[in-house]
Amino acid sequence: MNSEIYYFTGTGNSLVVAKDIARILDGELISISSTIEKETITTTADIVGIIFPVFYADFGGIPLILKRFVKKLKIPYSTYLFAVCTHAGGPRKTIEQLQLLLEQKGIKLASGFAIQLSVPYSPGLKMKRALFRREINSGEEVLKDSNKQKELYDAWEKKLKIIIKSIKNREEGIFETTRSPFKPLVSLSKFTFRSRYKNLAEVSKQNSEGKTLFDFEDLIHLADKSFSVNEKCNGCGICSKLCPVGNIKMVNNSPVWQHRCETCYACYVWCPNDAVYGEIVAYNKKYHHPDVKLSEIINQFKTNS
Ligand SMILES: Cc1cc2nc3c(=O)[nH]c(=O)nc-3n(C[C@H](O)[C@H](O)[C@H](O)COP(=O)(O)O)c2cc1C
Ligand code: SF4
Ligand code: SF4
Repeated sequence: MNSEIYYFTGTGNSLVVAKDIARILDGELISISSTIEKETITTTADIVGIIFPVFYADFGGIPLILKRFVKKLKIPYSTYLFAVCTHAGGPRKTIEQLQLLLEQKGIKLASGFAIQLSVPYSPGLKMKRALFRREINSGEEVLKDSNKQKELYDAWEKKLKIIIKSIKNREEGIFETTRSPFKPLVSLSKFTFRSRYKNLAEVSKQNSEGKTLFDFEDLIHLADKSFSVNEKCNGCGICSKLCPVGNIKMVNNSPVWQHRCETCYACYVWCPNDAVYGEIVAYNKKYHHPDVKLSEIINQFKTNS
């Protein structure tokens, strides 16, 4: 039984998940980024997996690169297709959205799993950050975070076994979501939806007020307008090599973003000199998975050239 595991990653979580699954299934690990030049993506594998991070669950949660990938995907109906999304506590209906997208292509998603691998800021810490507009990491907060992070990694070890068992048994109909049973939270989520849109419009340096609203996807691509480098940038060019969509060009030894951003934050978290900053990442932790090497992130894109 041969299998192909497609993945997309920014901070490395989804790569770890993809590698673990591919290792146990003895499957081929293929980066989605390596397929972007292809017009169609066909497979004859018996089992196909898609592993990806949740981006903006309020807006469906599916990274744009994955949407483009699905549009080009051609796989027989008999193929056992599963998906795993990694997230920071709120995947919402991402898996269901993916199922719908695939269904429009006549592709059946057998099962979809969600695994939390990132620790989100507590609301209190978020507020502090917003008020003081800077990194606030007390020793206690860092310790709490690292304990929680360890718990998440341990939980993945257990979940991996469950997912593998499910794949081997070709189970169908598991679509993991987070849903609010409370109506008030629905209107709260509408509020978050609007405010996220506004934030994105702001970092994309576009004013959506009083105008036809920009398409959310356009705003994502433009979000790199908020990126800059500080004096620590030595022009090494690593960011341009690791961007999964080739969105960074080096001009006069400085990165220039090309407005085809996926908001994966890879350039921000993997810059070896901690030189990338910007409004879009201002209140984000500089986290990447400790078991992933920079070379693996670079290879994600390199394999297509
Ligand atoms: C732009 C962006 C938006 C995100 N939105 C969500 C979200 O809506 N819900 C959630 O649970 N996690 C969200 N996350 C967190 C990621 O899904 C999570 O950290 C994931 O494990 C990252 O995977 P990766 O390391 O493979 O890139 C978001 C991350 C980014 C960069
Ligand atoms: S990786 Fe960092 S230091 Fe190197 S060019 Fe990019 S921003 Fe500058
Ligand atoms: S520019 Fe940075 S955030 Fe945007 S897709 Fe490339 S690596 Fe990801």
